[in-house]
Amino acid sequence: MRTRISIAALLLMVLLALASPALAASVAVQPGNATADGFLPSTGCGCHGPLVAAWSPSMHAQAIVDPVFLTKVAEAQAEAGEETAIFCKRCHSPIGNMTGDSDGVASEVAGEGVTCMFCHQVTGLDGEPANTGFLLQPDLTRRAQLTDPAAPHPATYSELHTTAEFCGGCHNVDHPTNGTHLESTYAEWASSPYADEGIVCQDCHMSSAPGVIGPSTGTACSTGKERDNIFSMSFVGANVGQGPSDASTALLKTAASIELQSPEVVSAGSVATMTVTITNKGAGHYLPTGLTEVREMWLSVYAKGVDGAITQIGERLFHTVMKGADGSFPVEMWDAVGIQSDDRIPPRESAREEYFFEMPADAESITVFAVLNYRSVPDELAEKAGVENPTTEMVSTSQAVFATQGAKDAASAEGTTDATDTQGLSIWVVVLGAVLVLAVAALTGAKILASHKRLKQG
Ligand code: HEC
Ligand code: HEC
Ligand code: HEC
Ligand code: HEC
Repeated sequence: MRTRISIAALLLMVLLALASPALAASVAVQPGNATADGFLPSTGCGCHGPLVAAWSPSMHAQAIVDPVFLTKVAEAQAEAGEETAIFCKRCHSPIGNMTGDSDGVASEVAGEGVTCMFCHQVTGLDGEPANTGFLLQPDLTRRAQLTDPAAPHPATYSELHTTAEFCGGCHNVDHPTNGTHLESTYAEWASSPYADEGIVCQDCHMSSAPGVIGPSTGTACSTGKERDNIFSMSFVGANVGQGPSDASTALLKTAASIELQSPEVVSAGSVATMTVTITNKGAGHYLPTGLTEVREMWLSVYAKGVDGAITQIGERLFHTVMKGADGSFPVEMWDAVGIQSDDRIPPRESAREEYFFEMPADAESITVFAVLNYRSVPDELAEKAGVENPTTEMVSTSQAVFATQGAKDAASAEGTTDATDTQGLSIWVVVLGAVLVLAVAALTGAKILASHKRLKQG
């Protein structure tokens, strides 16, 4: 009798433990697997003010209200049906998907797109990283990288949050029926040198500033202790028009370097060859990445005469082209069965382009320019969506080309052979430096003289 009671008590304890939030089973991102009260909106993140402020302007916060997304998803729905549109919205509002509210309109938290409590309740991956394949425990326990969280709410350590696989759950998009890799940012990273070096997405996209790699010291919340592994929830990317503008511009400027090689003397009327080399020096994936059949990164090469007249020499776009079932291209992502072409630049690799240009018959010199530009979407799509679509100059370089050796020598005597700004600047720095040194020398000389005079007088 006694033993039976204690077995019953034991069973009860086990059942209670199983029912307690910390031990509840994880669920996949599927309609009907959660209710909105399993998540809190960002306005409920009390002491994390700076993190909320960093996240708010991000594309994550706008994912399900982004007019560019809504424009494309409406096209997807019209051309490929409701089910495709629901697939699209899975990543752009995963909470909307789980709560049977794909458009993210029934609750504040679903309308917040990729929000705090979605990411921080992820417990694992449901298969290989892709297509929102996450497991989640919507029990209000926050999961992140802190091994000793001291929070007024349930919080626990999660190794997954420190990995690129976590981001890969959404940043690998495979076609839902034929598996074509529509977006492969995670896969591109996984086969890059950054993966070998242990530099993950978080190190570049959640650091204290664009171009800074890795965590910084700080506090997880306003009343928390100082820690040395703190990240920002800024998720800075390349969307200058709709995302955090200044930070996105700054990040884009860290991505590439550019080099131009041209003969310095080309006789008037003759044709010469120059090469432009672009290196993906700062992005931990292909350049560009993500929605690369839509993104526009292009190299523009042109010449400028002394009178300011510009002659276009060449232009080239770096992107992917999707192929349809009948072999036609380009097609929309929902119609894609494969990749027709992909000429983007892999991480730490370079693209080399050759261009021909003609030295005008009447010119003594020209300057050749190579400029790498980025724009989130084609102007036509931006107009349809009603959003700003600024062009960002990522990097540029230039070189002077002379019609004769004499013209080149004359220019170098004047110190103007190199047209790049930094070189011009360094000449001025040297001149200014020399003037300063002379001035200081003259002043100290005068002072010494004066003190000698005083000594003599004294
Ligand atoms: C896209 C997913 C994602 C979203 C959205 C997100 N976080 Fe995070 N958060 C992370 C990851 C990943 C880490 C851990 C980074 C690491 O260690 O590499 C983290 C770390 C944290 C930490 C630990 C302290 C720190 O700053 O490093 C806190 C607190 C936090 N997030 C709160 C928030 C709040 C509040 C929001 C909403 C305003 C938010 N997070 C939005 C993924 C996310
Ligand atoms: C639940 C899905 C989801 C997860 C998890 C996720 N992202 Fe995103 N992310 C998105 C979506 C969707 C967008 C695009 C939103 C838009 O532009 O409408 C995006 C956009 C971004 C952008 C901005 C791109 C730009 O053009 O400016 C960056 C950067 C980014 N994510 C980084 C990360 C990092 C780093 C992680 C991991 C810590 C992560 N994301 C995890 C879904 C996700
Ligand atoms: C070494 C730093 C570095 C790492 C690691 C890195 N990124 Fe990036 N990322 C950049 C830079 C720089 C840019 C801006 C240039 C560009 O658009 O590719 C960028 C751009 C992006 C964009 C916007 C692309 C566009 O044009 O719309 C997304 C999305 C993104 N990264 C996601 C990720 C994810 C997810 C990971 C991890 C799997 C990751 N990044 C790893 C540096 C990094
Ligand atoms: C598995 C997750 C996922 C799915 C599913 C998904 N997306 Fe996205 N989407 C993303 C990510 C991540 C980005 C950011 C990539 C980048 O910055 O280039 C993005 C960006 C976009 C953007 C760019 C928004 C902007 O402001 O520039 C559009 C448009 C878009 N997606 C449309 C769609 C459509 C249409 C579908 C369905 C056919 C879809 N997405 C399905 C993850 C997803």
